[in-house]
Amino acid sequence: MLSFEDFTPDQSKSNSTAAAPAAPIQQTQTITQLPPAAAVKKPVVPQQVETISFVPEEVGAGVTGVEEINFNAKRLKVDDKRIINCRADLNQLVPFKYEWAWQKYLDGCANHWMPQEISMARDIALWKDPKGLSDDERLIVKRNLGFFSTADSLVANNLVLALYRHITNPECRQYLLRQSFEEAVHTHAYQYIVESLGLDEGEIFNMYREVPSIHNKDAFELEFTQELADPNFNTGTPETDQRFLRNLIAYYCIMEGLFFYVGFVQMLSFGRQNKMTGSSEQFQYILRDESMHLNFGIDMINQIKAENPHLWTPEFEKELIALFERGLDLEYAYAEATMPRGVLGLNSAMFSEYLRYIANRRMKQIGLPEQYPTAKNPFPWMSEMLDLKKEKNFFETRVIDYQTGGALSWE
Ligand SMILES: [Fe+2]
Ligand SMILES: [Fe+2]
Repeated sequence: MLSFEDFTPDQSKSNSTAAAPAAPIQQTQTITQLPPAAAVKKPVVPQQVETISFVPEEVGAGVTGVEEINFNAKRLKVDDKRIINCRADLNQLVPFKYEWAWQKYLDGCANHWMPQEISMARDIALWKDPKGLSDDERLIVKRNLGFFSTADSLVANNLVLALYRHITNPECRQYLLRQSFEEAVHTHAYQYIVESLGLDEGEIFNMYREVPSIHNKDAFELEFTQELADPNFNTGTPETDQRFLRNLIAYYCIMEGLFFYVGFVQMLSFGRQNKMTGSSEQFQYILRDESMHLNFGIDMINQIKAENPHLWTPEFEKELIALFERGLDLEYAYAEATMPRGVLGLNSAMFSEYLRYIANRRMKQIGLPEQYPTAKNPFPWMSEMLDLKKEKNFFETRVIDYQTGGALSWE
């Protein structure tokens, strides 16, 4: 059973693939010109036009995968691969160095789902019934849709506009492309719920501009995206590599690993009480995807640490712990704003404990000391929420075989 609570990054696998730092490419490379298209079939010897000496630091700063294709360049070796600052060809998926990244790409594809495949009929009837839900319950649904509907857009923007350019490994990029599509599916799911329930889309999609607790979380994360999306930003120095790593940790461990979890618990609690079962199920599939995003991020962070141990200084650890503390405060403020009074068997104090428990997990997973050793998990049932292969017994809808990638059948 897949369980985010029990998850521990496969260090043996990660470490086994950490290998030696990438061998730098030859110091001198020959820039050649490809023959004209009409002459491609003829055995033409490429014409040498100029020879330049590569200074590795300069090349590392500019490698994106869209540089000139060096005809007849030296063939890629697996040990040339690195997660950041790689100077080898970024367009050759194989030979694999990071099998864990490729496996997560395959697992993500096997978990494919689409929002329209989940029945929203019961949710619509309940939402339209004036006595169907309390005002507090309606507030939880709307605030969570308000947060998630734009948050997944921010995550996708961070992936494609900030992170992707600096991840210099094809198998990790392959997973990032899959993850980006999944973020689009999630935004689709929130839009689909908003449309199904007939909610005011202007109210929901503007919450990140109008509700302080939502705005503050997004503003916190956006700072990191803006830093890396700056066209003048490049990795390749200890300072910029640390800034890059900080972005990875802020997005994978705090945004996706902490800021999503009050909402997940709240929305899945509806399903456990046989309310809003379609919305709850949408969130259950999203949780499964997000759990894999988080695990991929943790593997990537730990791999970068292994390849660049000089980045993980005591000062950097302190800075990261302070980031987690800020993240906890922001997420707790969000818990209070979505749930001013106890409802659905939940209350704010439970979230205070839960967030500390989760923060401990995230910190431990990336090798930081746990800051809240006494924190316990008040929601042990969350682990079961990731297991979508077993028969569902609390949702009305019963989905069969999510592994095929084809159409789903309903009982
Ligand atoms: Fe997402
Ligand atoms: Fe995600």
